[in-house]
Amino acid sequence: MAQIRDLDRKYVFHPFSMAHAHEQSGAAMMAQSAEGCWITDDAGKRYFDAMAGLWCVNVGYGRDRIADAMADQARKLSYFHGFSSMATEPAALLAERVIEKAPAGFSKVFFGASGSDANDTQAKIVWYYNNARDMPQKKKIIARDRGYHGVTVMTGGLTGLPSLHAGFDLPLPMIRHVSAPHGLWTRLPDEDDDAFATRMAQELEDLIVEEGPETVGAFIAEPVMGAGGVIVPPKGYFPKIREVLDRHDVLLIADEVVCGFGRLGTWFGAEKMEMAPDLMSVAKGITSGYAPLSGVLVSDRIWSVISGAGAAKYGAFGHGYTYTAHPVMAAAALTNLDIVEEENLVARAGEMGAYLNDTLKKAFDGMPIAAEVRGRGLVAAVEFAQPTVDGWRKFDPKLTVGARIVRAALEDGVISRALPNGDAVSFSPPFVVTHEDIDLVISTVRRAADQICAALKAEGHLSTIPA
Ligand SMILES: Cc1ncc(COP(=O)(O)O)c(C=O)c1O
Repeated sequence: MAQIRDLDRKYVFHPFSMAHAHEQSGAAMMAQSAEGCWITDDAGKRYFDAMAGLWCVNVGYGRDRIADAMADQARKLSYFHGFSSMATEPAALLAERVIEKAPAGFSKVFFGASGSDANDTQAKIVWYYNNARDMPQKKKIIARDRGYHGVTVMTGGLTGLPSLHAGFDLPLPMIRHVSAPHGLWTRLPDEDDDAFATRMAQELEDLIVEEGPETVGAFIAEPVMGAGGVIVPPKGYFPKIREVLDRHDVLLIADEVVCGFGRLGTWFGAEKMEMAPDLMSVAKGITSGYAPLSGVLVSDRIWSVISGAGAAKYGAFGHGYTYTAHPVMAAAALTNLDIVEEENLVARAGEMGAYLNDTLKKAFDGMPIAAEVRGRGLVAAVEFAQPTVDGWRKFDPKLTVGARIVRAALEDGVISRALPNGDAVSFSPPFVVTHEDIDLVISTVRRAADQICAALKAEGHLSTIPA
């Protein structure tokens, strides 16, 4: 056990980890096996995974049916590609299944292997679409502060988190950002949903006009922001955004990598948040993380240009990955979707999500450093902040309040996640979570928050809170 930890410490280059500290201290946890919502580490300690890995293990761990489907497919046809009109059966069946579930108006799926590559493909489709329409200037892509869209050269810039830009010379020059509709920090006093949504849509329109609509190709947004802070837009936000985009012939890309396949209690987040996108990206929940697979869903409006003017001008579509439509990954997705349907897990995510959000609100109501509890469906967060006489102020980032709460909960056997740019702690459990599981998660995290709050007080950082 110590030997394997040593190998990890010495040789693995970990994503989103402190390089030097990892080399010194090694793994925070080494997962060894998992079943349902529970992970067991290399010392035999069990943890409840309230994040479903990275927002992805929707059907829970240890599903033999998915493992068997992948093994059967690997034995039958372990690999074949989709270039030059080559095809495989699982990919065709999966594409039909995805289009059947998608909102009306979508006709094609382009497969990849990660959320990042899906959004990268989106940018190229937007450029290709506008080149095909003889609008070569219409290339800028607008995203939102705190939006998370991946880490490639294009998508790392679309992601509106400064920590993903620093050191990497990002964003690329054609990327712009507008404010996130963050109720706690962005909504003005006395602003209702309608006024808040109108102001956010106006900010987008002002930017498009300032840049020149002839230079703006697309706007990308998650229906509910995940990694950037679990930010739920005010009612009416996306319909107002859609009106602005339509006025300026700008495409709407829904990044459904977290929300897609049920997390909000509907098959896609776009339905729940009234989004009406032209393009959609999916990943994570399509296989529940059993295999890396993503998809770009293309609407008829875009497809007609790609297959018409685009094909006439450029010939074969010059984009694709070795693992586009990998048959073993597609087999995993098909069985995963069978499970989601047979066990009615989309409706269950809606029901359990309501319980998660209600219970979280009750548990943190009046807690001295809990500034906001927010969420939709099976995704939720508590944001911690410093109470002041007239509201809330963000904690000094050096205090790492969110990370400390998450660490304390981890020691107590619950995996949650501290989100960047503030001190929000998030929850995104598998859809098979039970009421008792949710009670356990919330009571553990509340205990951890109380412990850190007491420590902050003792350190002299919470002088505004009476003893
Ligand atoms: C909304 C969203 N889009 C894109 C991505 C990137 O996906 P991947 O990490 O598979 O590249 C993520 C990852 O968390 C995400 O949450």
